[in-house]
Amino acid sequence: MAETTLRVSKIKDGTVIDHITAGHALDVIKILGITGHVNGIVTVGMNVPSKTLGSKDMVKIEGRELKSPEVAKIALLAPHASINIIRNYKVVNKQLVKLPDVIREAIKCANPACISNSKEPVKSTFYVECKEPLRLRCHYCGYIMEKQDIPKQF
Ligand code: CTP
Ligand code: ZN
Repeated sequence: MAETTLRVSKIKDGTVIDHITAGHALDVIKILGITGHVNGIVTVGMNVPSKTLGSKDMVKIEGRELKSPEVAKIALLAPHASINIIRNYKVVNKQLVKLPDVIREAIKCANPACISNSKEPVKSTFYVECKEPLRLRCHYCGYIMEKQDIPKQF
């Protein structure tokens, strides 16, 4: 593609999730609860060339500014992602995603017998034991979840 051609056009207002680990754009869309029935334009780029990552995925969501809890969930799958808030075509806020030490209510425990999967009113809670490679430990049953287990648990 010629240098002069824009591959994915700029947006006026919304959020650009950039530098997503290649292969994870669809997981990010799933975490954010974006289905085929939402309003607003959503543009997905996969395997886009990147100077720093080799190749990356990106998701542009028009008309929606992501909030902190949503940003924390993205960190589980795309630890190098940057979240750009766009207003009137300008980047007004750019933040790198950051994994909190404790993750509550974002994902379900992969152990079916875990009390957090029962009808008891307990909220799932995980401790981040290691960020890279990702290791989460369930507060209730001690079950260890790794990166490849995460997309199934949203
Ligand atoms: N972007 C967009 N629409 C705009 C402004 C920016 O879609 N109106 C996108 C850009 O295409 C880029 C991301 O938002 O993917 C961040 O924009 P910018 O900070 O201008 O780009 P870079 O400097 O390349 O960002 P970084 O340093 O994070 O790589
Ligand atoms: Zn558990």
